[in-house]
Amino acid sequence: MKTEPLRLALAGLGTVGAGVIRLIETNAALIERRCGRPLRIVAVSARDRGKDRGVDLSGYAWEDDMTALPQRDDVDVVVELVGGSDGPALTLARKTVESGKAFVTANKAMIAHHGLGLARDAESAGVPVRFEAAVAGGIPVIKGLREGAAANEIERVYGILNGTCNYILSTMEDTGADFADVLSEAQAMGYAEADPTFDIDGIDAAHKLSILASIAFGTELDFGAVTTDGIRRVLSADIAQADSLGYVIRLLGMARVEPSADGVKHLFQRVHPYLVPKDHPLAHVDGATNAVVAEGNFVGRLLFQGAGAGDGPTASAVVADIIDIARLWESENEIDPPFSIPVSELDANVPAETGNHRGKAYLRFMVKDRPGVLAELTAAMRDANVSIESLIQKGAKDSGADDGSVMVAMVTHEGEEGCVTRALELLADSDSVTAEPLVMHILRQ
Ligand SMILES: NC(=O)c1ccc[n+]([C@@H]2O[C@H](COP(=O)([O-])OP(=O)(O)OC[C@H]3O[C@@H](n4cnc5c(N)ncnc54)[C@H](OP(=O)(O)O)[C@@H]3O)[C@@H](O)[C@H]2O)c1
Repeated sequence: MKTEPLRLALAGLGTVGAGVIRLIETNAALIERRCGRPLRIVAVSARDRGKDRGVDLSGYAWEDDMTALPQRDDVDVVVELVGGSDGPALTLARKTVESGKAFVTANKAMIAHHGLGLARDAESAGVPVRFEAAVAGGIPVIKGLREGAAANEIERVYGILNGTCNYILSTMEDTGADFADVLSEAQAMGYAEADPTFDIDGIDAAHKLSILASIAFGTELDFGAVTTDGIRRVLSADIAQADSLGYVIRLLGMARVEPSADGVKHLFQRVHPYLVPKDHPLAHVDGATNAVVAEGNFVGRLLFQGAGAGDGPTASAVVADIIDIARLWESENEIDPPFSIPVSELDANVPAETGNHRGKAYLRFMVKDRPGVLAELTAAMRDANVSIESLIQKGAKDSGADDGSVMVAMVTHEGEEGCVTRALELLADSDSVTAEPLVMHILRQ
């Protein structure tokens, strides 16, 4: 057992940073036993030195400029808990790797945009870079895929990756309230940011999905290739409709490798509000909880579930990475590549054509309440080769529209998504359709 401590510098002392300090102080003895040496925080940095953070910082050196942390001789690992895809967090990451020090982060935006470059530099420098907390907060899903499921070909990886959206959708489901009201309530309770765009438009989930997909499939991370759609347009009437058809609505990140004739992996990555069958485990994940499903060719279906955010859970994942570094680094073992496979050996990320993707879909139209409208909708479906499994029309009162429009919802049989797109194109100029139609895909069991 090593006696010398692993020396840490922390950049960012907000929710997660203060949580990491509390965890390391509270569980110091057991962490020392588990990693074979003590962890010691030696230096910290944030913007405001005078702010009360509920933790005692008097024993740690303070740096006004966080990018000075890796230059310190008394630091082995720099932990970045600031956030932002670029700017000081990225400068700090690059300087840390250049200085030959280990780097741990919870920053999904930075890993989604710059993770491959950082991993490449870290592999050449022989230093560890870890980011367990960047995906699904406290849930050890990166470790689960890199280690526990490492022997499997992963067929699909998908899940509930944003707690704010899940809270909003499950509250709309429980209360029948509209999206805007539930969002305001979530903001008041601290579950949603004052600017909720990253969450409700699916960008945060897309960051996490792109990281998961790279690790699950051994492909280059490509955040730009994720088709992203959020939950702003989901109505409480859609939730009621989905319920009567046997589904709940959840914002899912979905990644899979599509079969292809040319032998090249075509990667499908999408964040989208899905209809989830009520007997699927994800249908029972409520509130701000996250859950990830990975389907392996030998292990079958794995479900990882837990808190996707919050000081304690996120600190748990950050410190787990630090413990790994304390155990492995400076041993005879080679440093694990951050994405499990060296960057130079990852497969190219060739995006799949979503139009060829097969599945069932829910389509919702707001239409004028007049004769012939249903026939117009069904004719467009027929002409685009979309086969309708069920169709329901709601009266104006139950449709949630204040202009007298009525809602027509339909579920398609399994077919190519491109056909649904074609049907909507055929209806694009129809003066019967009063609002942009909503398409939600249906999760295949
Ligand atoms: N919160 C969660 O539950 C959660 C979960 C998973 C991942 N994450 C990720 O963890 C990271 C931190 O999140 P958080 O919620 O802890 O954020 P936060 O509460 O806003 O804290 C950010 C910290 O960074 C410091 N900071 C910001 N800009 C800085 C700059 N230019 N120079 C030095 N320090 C700067 C702030 O300093 P001051 O305090 O002095 O203003 C603050 O201490 C983000 O990447 C986030 O995506 C968070």
